[in-house]
Amino acid sequence: MLNGDVAALLNRQINKELYSAYLYLDFANYYTECGLDGFANWYRVQAQEERDHALLFIQYLHNNGEKVVFEAVEKPAQSFTSARGPLAAGWEHEQYVTGLIHAIYACAYEAKDFRTMQFLDWFIKEQGEEEASADTLLKKMELFGSDAKGLYLLDNELGTRVYTAPSLTL
Ligand code: FEO
Repeated sequence: MLNGDVAALLNRQINKELYSAYLYLDFANYYTECGLDGFANWYRVQAQEERDHALLFIQYLHNNGEKVVFEAVEKPAQSFTSARGPLAAGWEHEQYVTGLIHAIYACAYEAKDFRTMQFLDWFIKEQGEEEASADTLLKKMELFGSDAKGLYLLDNELGTRVYTAPSLTL
């Protein structure tokens, strides 16, 4: 059994990861409706990764004899008027998720829950990568997105992203 506060935060993180998947599918829908299929592909793949993150938290809780409790997934609230909008929102969202992961880590540290700290190491690194890729995407859009040819090439590039399963296995 895990420390109660740590277990509660891990359980809450399942919902946050599922919300991330939901949010990124919402971004993908927006891009599909704009005709930017490459951007839509990028966020569909990102949604799959977020779903994987949720599954990892579920499995970790189960591996430690904890009950998993699902809460309602929040409705994505934003509407966008430009192709840049979801990219900026995505970058902000990843910084928010990093804060959540760090808060769980701090709670585990306080509880001397070394097993959970080790489990979270992968997510801390992953968040660094996700923040960097969201930032890169936003910068590319700001550099090239106002030019039709630049946007076309960027859309093609993002269309090549393929899903790969997470490197963490439990
Ligand atoms: Fe699961 Fe993008 O953090």
